[in-house]
Amino acid sequence: MIGVIGGSGLYKSLKGLEKPRDVVKQTPYGQVIVTAGYFSGKEIVFLSRHGKIKQVPPHRINHRANIYALKKSGVEKIIAVSAVGGINTEMPPGFFVLPSQYIDFTREVHTFYDEEIKHVDMTEPFSAELRKCIGNVLEELKFQHVDHGVYVCMPGPQFETPAEIKMLSTIGGDIVGMTVVPEAKLAREMGITYQPLCMVVNWAAGISAEQITHETTLRVVAEMNDKLTAVLQKAIERIEA
Ligand code: HPA
Repeated sequence: MIGVIGGSGLYKSLKGLEKPRDVVKQTPYGQVIVTAGYFSGKEIVFLSRHGKIKQVPPHRINHRANIYALKKSGVEKIIAVSAVGGINTEMPPGFFVLPSQYIDFTREVHTFYDEEIKHVDMTEPFSAELRKCIGNVLEELKFQHVDHGVYVCMPGPQFETPAEIKMLSTIGGDIVGMTVVPEAKLAREMGITYQPLCMVVNWAAGISAEQITHETTLRVVAEMNDKLTAVLQKAIERIEA
């Protein structure tokens, strides 16, 4: 089963999701509502990362409950849609980016292994298979995109300072967001394949003179939504699951 996680601006549902049905999943970490439905003729599960009914900010997302709920729903492969700021000038607003590496600045521990010593491998933190498939679709649809890159995860909820972004650029960061890394770590521990599909919604702080507002980021997500649906439709058609 394929799971799609929706981020900022994709709270209620996924455009194109047919026969949506909310299911309440109980987990050891709390209750989560997932939406089961059909997309491209396939049964999938959609999860609104920030919550479906009431939205919580990035630092209060119950990532463990979310990933556990997807696992319990039978999800084996996750496409995680996520809004990001562009640090690398080759990744401007309006672009899709499929990151291949991450750097974690959340300064929090994200794990299911609190009581046992277990270390999962993170050499390839995301999914080469999903990245290739979605990258091919983006290429065919001629949507502006980059099929690799380093995602830097910041704690938020504030946007970064230009000094922070300069540092992140120096250490190799290409895009910046607040949510992907906890999910990627937890998904790996659960044995779920995970690939972020990032939408660049603003230049990271200091890259352009413009101030960043949440409203602007939501507007760009809305502007890119039709393209996102087209990408997901073609990709999900092809992904074996
Ligand atoms: N920084 C961090 N997270 C984000 C940004 C940003 O500039 N844009 C969208 N999510």
